[in-house]
Amino acid sequence: MQLLPGFRDFYPEDCALRNYVLSVWRSVAARYGFVEYDGPVLEPIELYRKKSGGELVGQLFDFVDKGERHVSLRPEMTPTLSRMVASRERDYKKPLKWFCAPSFFRYEKQQRGRLREFFQLNCDILGDSSPAADAELLALLIDILRGFGLGPEDFVVRLSDRDAWLQFAQGKGVTVERLGDFLAVVDKLERSQEADNRRKLAEFGIELGAVRAFIAEPSGEAAKLQGIIADLTARGLEKYVAVDLTIVRGLAYYTGLVFEVFDRNGKERALAGGGRYDGLLELMSDGKVKMPALGFGMGDVVLANLISEVPHAKAKRDAWLAANRAAEVYVVVADEEHRTEALGVVQSLREGGWRTDFAFSAAKVGKQFQAAETLGAQFAVVVGAEWPELKIKALATRTEHSAAPAQLVSQLRALCVTQPSA
Ligand code: HAM
Repeated sequence: MQLLPGFRDFYPEDCALRNYVLSVWRSVAARYGFVEYDGPVLEPIELYRKKSGGELVGQLFDFVDKGERHVSLRPEMTPTLSRMVASRERDYKKPLKWFCAPSFFRYEKQQRGRLREFFQLNCDILGDSSPAADAELLALLIDILRGFGLGPEDFVVRLSDRDAWLQFAQGKGVTVERLGDFLAVVDKLERSQEADNRRKLAEFGIELGAVRAFIAEPSGEAAKLQGIIADLTARGLEKYVAVDLTIVRGLAYYTGLVFEVFDRNGKERALAGGGRYDGLLELMSDGKVKMPALGFGMGDVVLANLISEVPHAKAKRDAWLAANRAAEVYVVVADEEHRTEALGVVQSLREGGWRTDFAFSAAKVGKQFQAAETLGAQFAVVVGAEWPELKIKALATRTEHSAAPAQLVSQLRALCVTQPSA
């Protein structure tokens, strides 16, 4: 039986990698005071048809359920989050700083960096329209990537502003109704032939040269990006951002600030993207709740590719994997006469917080040591004919120590401090 295209099996080694990504996401989000939430995997299709818009609508994993409802697996979180917050807006103090990191589904062509099921971290701030909130969210985005050991030479956050484009387009006579179509042309500018760009812009009565000049020297609303950059400069994070007006984002709900993150080599697709969606909660609540909001989504696929290509990020990941190996201690039963006592040792180690493993049936001592190495254990504790004397072997340094069962847990802890290389 073949896997469906774009879906993944997660064998234990794949799950370990995924857990690494999730653990960094969660710990940095928590450092910024974000709290975790979640929503349903399945939603009514209207939620995305009306609220996501753009190219996402063509990528929905939708079907009619047994109750004749037209539903879709979630392709993104923002419409769900907006619905959730709009319906219980009074229960929470503003600003809300919420994150989630579940899986999403998009019927996209499988390619490098894009799958049909992927994990995506979402961090959103709701109820604050200030540039300080914009800068805080961007600082979080940057610090998450720094949390993986990625530096300013590895990635860049490209900042842009839809209001600036709105001003530009209206100045050229583009109506509000046609704004989305105009932005779609800007969105594809770098990926299309110049002749096509020229022809498409002519439909709006705009010259390509004028668009290029605006990108080179943005004016009007784009000035507020400088304020955001000043805030990031105060935090020492300015080297991670650059103004780039070619970023407009493919989703319909974005209003002001928009941004995307790319690897510096330009080899990968976007690592993350987001922006302000100040009108979405109002739309979701039929005008009842007006609440500014902004956020970003960061997928696991491109991120994992980049981590494995950047040596210091890879080293950091591998150190985490080593520290989170399956067993820290392996109890070697060197004398079957003492298996009962060995079980007591195993139990006390586990109760002492050590990840502990052992062989279920009699095996040669050499085989048991091999098993310990395979599991990546730091220590072997040998239970043999000398019982109640135990032997602790530090597997990396091959040093040996005697221990009594009652002191085993504290002695291992002390050895961990004195033998950091173990
Ligand atoms: P998005 O740009 O559609 O934004 O997705 C954000 C990130 O999710 C992408 O940059 C990419 O890392 C990842 N991603 C998207 N599609 C796929 C895929 N098919 N396979 C693998 N990774 C993928 C949003 O989803 C917005 N809802 C983000 C947001 C949150 N805006 C405000 N709050």
